[in-house]
Amino acid sequence: MKSCLLFSPLFLLILLVTPFYNAIAQKKSLDQKVDSVLRLMTLDEKIGQMNQYNGDWAATGPITKDGDKQEQIKKGMLGSMLNVTGTDHTRTLQQLAMQSRMKIPLLFGQDIVHGYRTIFPIPLAEAASWDLPAIELSARVAATEGAAAGIHWTFAPMVDIARDPRWGRVMEGAGEDTYLGSLIAAARVKGFQGKGLGNTDAMMACAKHFAAYGAAVAGRDYNSVDMSNRQLLETYLPPFEAAAKAGAATFMNSFNDLNGVPASGNAYLQRTILKGQWGFKGFVVSDWGSIGEMINHGFVKDNYEAAMAAANAGSDMDMESRSYIQNLAKLVKEGKVKIAVIDDAVKRILRKKFEMGLFDDPFRFCNEARENEQSNNPAHITAAREVAKKSIVLLKNEKQLLPLSKDVKNIALIGPFVKAKSDNLGFWSYDWPDDTARIVTLWEGVKSKLAAGSNVLYAKGCEIKDTSRAGFSEAVAAAMQADVVVMTVGEARDMTGEAKSRSVIRLPGVQEELVKAIVATGKPVVVLMSAGRPLVFNWIADNVPAIVYTWWLGTQAGNAIADVLFGDYNPSAKLPISFPRTEGQIPIYYNYYNTGRPAKNDSDLNYVSSYIDLPNSPKYPFGFGLSYTSFSYGDIELSKPVFKPTEKLVVKCTVINTGNYDGEETVQLYIRDLVGSVVRPVKELKGFKKIQLKKGASTTVEFILTANDLRFYNDKLQYIFEPGDFKVFVGGSSASVKEAGFTLVK
Ligand code: GLC
Repeated sequence: MKSCLLFSPLFLLILLVTPFYNAIAQKKSLDQKVDSVLRLMTLDEKIGQMNQYNGDWAATGPITKDGDKQEQIKKGMLGSMLNVTGTDHTRTLQQLAMQSRMKIPLLFGQDIVHGYRTIFPIPLAEAASWDLPAIELSARVAATEGAAAGIHWTFAPMVDIARDPRWGRVMEGAGEDTYLGSLIAAARVKGFQGKGLGNTDAMMACAKHFAAYGAAVAGRDYNSVDMSNRQLLETYLPPFEAAAKAGAATFMNSFNDLNGVPASGNAYLQRTILKGQWGFKGFVVSDWGSIGEMINHGFVKDNYEAAMAAANAGSDMDMESRSYIQNLAKLVKEGKVKIAVIDDAVKRILRKKFEMGLFDDPFRFCNEARENEQSNNPAHITAAREVAKKSIVLLKNEKQLLPLSKDVKNIALIGPFVKAKSDNLGFWSYDWPDDTARIVTLWEGVKSKLAAGSNVLYAKGCEIKDTSRAGFSEAVAAAMQADVVVMTVGEARDMTGEAKSRSVIRLPGVQEELVKAIVATGKPVVVLMSAGRPLVFNWIADNVPAIVYTWWLGTQAGNAIADVLFGDYNPSAKLPISFPRTEGQIPIYYNYYNTGRPAKNDSDLNYVSSYIDLPNSPKYPFGFGLSYTSFSYGDIELSKPVFKPTEKLVVKCTVINTGNYDGEETVQLYIRDLVGSVVRPVKELKGFKKIQLKKGASTTVEFILTANDLRFYNDKLQYIFEPGDFKVFVGGSSASVKEAGFTLVK
């Protein structure tokens, strides 16, 4: 019988191995290409690749004025520049690089953190959406616009876990939770890198700041960080590992010292964990000047020692400190840094340049037509509005004051943000002269919703930071003429972000007094909070019937807020970070350890872990957020009360929409390991599902738990699960849950 080759084992084997062979062949050819360039390079040219200077388009750190950068590019003394933007500028500098002996293309990097021309909500706001596809879309649009402008590499996502809202960079990450932060880190990396490096709408992602920068003592930016390696591994590193697994092309180290060793000179972080245990094949760039700053840390004596410590610890590229370009050649000649260290760093950098297709065509990202098209893509504006409205958190809505009617006769918009433009963009956004028209203010967003006969009154009332009360009377007069008042108060755009730590995180100026004056009129008041961090605003929280946290929502802020205010979008966001009652509570987070003397409730003061002047609980807990409708949770059903490590546990809970609006709920799953070889948090987020429910409808939400979901780092730094009793919680907030118990056996 004629053998049918098609189904012969040999043919099937060939089918199976071909993709792997191709991948290995591609990798081999990429490595061969890299090696073929490396072997032609002089030591100075290799060091040039490890050197990155700021362009002069914008400065995101202290500027060093020296030398002619264009001359240095022509001599091959620069491998990358940051803060150069636009196809015209990048083309000009790339042309200079092509005049160098090796003609190695430059990499252009920039902080495109939450949008480039179309600004999306700040990352902390996006995290409140718990909507991973939306978060990925935001990064995808940012990369499309940035890559079209000639930029190859974004210094994002920032994946630092932050439990201290005094720290200004809390706005840049995904909040306090490791599980949520890890999923968001991966989503952002995928968004930025799209279908893969080499596509002209893909940018290299950069997971930062490696590591534990968000745990700065006292929430003071750039301050020291000291924690056990166990805490580091369990709480702060997983989002970085998730970013690496998602294929992040690069990492950026951090300014802080960690357990006495600055991150830029920290071989445990960069070599043992990142490049060793995680097998990271990309490259690590230092943060602005951080290599040279090891002198200030008192970790090295001078730039010579700084360059030695950083290179040997695995910092592959030196951003702006000039330590490498001024010292590495001498260090190699003196045997203090082996040429193998230099070659490894340069190969990592060259590999990314090959993957980006820059050796094939150094100008492939310099396409002006694409730049114009993507800088004005209406689909991006639509996306920005979609993501923004999903990021808005409804904190309070007494007597269903919201949503407002579009037929409202007289509405007063009061506060310093009503007609604000760039204050909607937040930190890490750029001012494009012709773009302010693109930013939709609250005033414009509300006006676009109202029926023709509605009368919209306006009064600024006060400035954001100024202490003048001169505008109060006009604001009170406007309120007196209105049927409802919408106030918008908050932080100026430069009050949260890098180097913007605040010891008191309350409304600046006299804004709270303005709110009090308007509430005193007796009119129904809605307050919108515009900020980059959790603020303390207890009087407003206790005395205003409706409160909406609008963060900094970007280009489409006014439209997104109006969508929520008038019910065209039912708010669904949930807080990704705890809101303290006062600064004295900080750090405050939901996944705390129980202690030996846990307080039974907020009023328990009987020799327990509590304050005599304040409840322990936060003002608003992690995972909290209201809807215009309401959801009720049935009892938890478990597939079995006892399960083995080889089995799965099915956790079910029925959720009913008991209100009058269709709505979306983020159903959260937490566990608690009741007894561990190290103490375990009272709750740990281990899953969530976003469900859409029509009013009156119900659905059963199902989660699968495995023994691996119960793992933690023990005191030997082993990542293990331990048999024992557990609790499982399901609810719409970390503080409002149904619970059940189960046991994991050996
Ligand atoms: C800044 C920031 C970092 C940023 C870099 C380049 O100091 O710490 O997040 O990517 O410098 O702007």
